[in-house]
Amino acid sequence: MSDFDFRAYLTERQAVVNQQLETILESLGTQRELTRAMGHSLMAGGKRLRPILCLAACEACGKDPAHALAPASALEMVHTYSLIHDDLPAMDDDDLRRGIPTCHRAFSEATAILAGDGLLTHAFQVLTRPGNLFTLLPDPAVRLELTAILSEAAGVNGMIEGQMLDMLSQEQEATALPSSLDRLEKIHRLKTGKMIQASVLSGAVSANADPAMQEHLAVYADKLGLAFQVKDDILDVEGDTAVMGKPAGSDEANHKMTYPALMGLEPSKRYAETLVNDAVDALAFFDEKALPLRAIAAYILQRRR
Ligand code: IPE
Ligand code: IPE
Ligand code: MG
Ligand code: MG
Ligand code: MG
Repeated sequence: MSDFDFRAYLTERQAVVNQQLETILESLGTQRELTRAMGHSLMAGGKRLRPILCLAACEACGKDPAHALAPASALEMVHTYSLIHDDLPAMDDDDLRRGIPTCHRAFSEATAILAGDGLLTHAFQVLTRPGNLFTLLPDPAVRLELTAILSEAAGVNGMIEGQMLDMLSQEQEATALPSSLDRLEKIHRLKTGKMIQASVLSGAVSANADPAMQEHLAVYADKLGLAFQVKDDILDVEGDTAVMGKPAGSDEANHKMTYPALMGLEPSKRYAETLVNDAVDALAFFDEKALPLRAIAAYILQRRR
């Protein structure tokens, strides 16, 4: 892995994704209030982890990642919508996101709700009626499958249910450890893990990957998705607001159930590490085309934002 320059890879892929998202916003007319609010959050400089995972999974399965740019864009749009709504006063009530004021702070609460709705809804337009936004596209039948994957992961059996359970967890005192940990793992798998799984699976499906490849990638994504949110919880405790671009300490202020709160900081770090090692082990089946996926797993542990 030593000769793989992950920093350069990340920067290059972020630029590709940003360019594509810019094109999508431009197609909507950037002067409208709605698209200005959508663009405020979408183009604020997220890590683009989900689209990059999608492209990297496509590549690991042996296809030019450009085939996966439509699902990659749709995934980032849905993810950004989830952040806009997550930050609303009725939810986590945060003022800073991606280093700038949250959408409801920069615009109004009503505009932020609609900007989130707009990103969510238009993501499916991008998948189903992409027009000439992309140079390469999966076949219509594959795009139907990608639509199903994304709506499942983001929906009432995925991220939205996770957010619901996360909100409910604020009102309940943590009970005996094993049952609370089970509950927390379920919340994390739903609110964050499902979208990360969908990212990897969408890349594989865009590459017409065979079932064996998809199975190995499903294990990778499952471990990675949980590790990602455990690390997010850790950063909320010990991260730097200026580096993260979102407020540290938000979970504690909101009495959230998190890994550090339940098992302590050091055990949480060891748990995240175990999960990431398991994720990488699941890639043993793949050749050097899976190098980016391996590097992304390591990055998830080391990241400071
Ligand atoms: C934050 O996601 C929300 C979670 C699901 C933990 P990211 O850490 O990927 O945020 P961005 O996209 O880089 O802003
Ligand atoms: C949010 O989890 C998960 C989403 C579905 C957006 P968090 O509430 O922990 O995410 P951050 O820390 O605000 O980014
Ligand atoms: Mg939240
Ligand atoms: Mg939050
Ligand atoms: Mg968090």
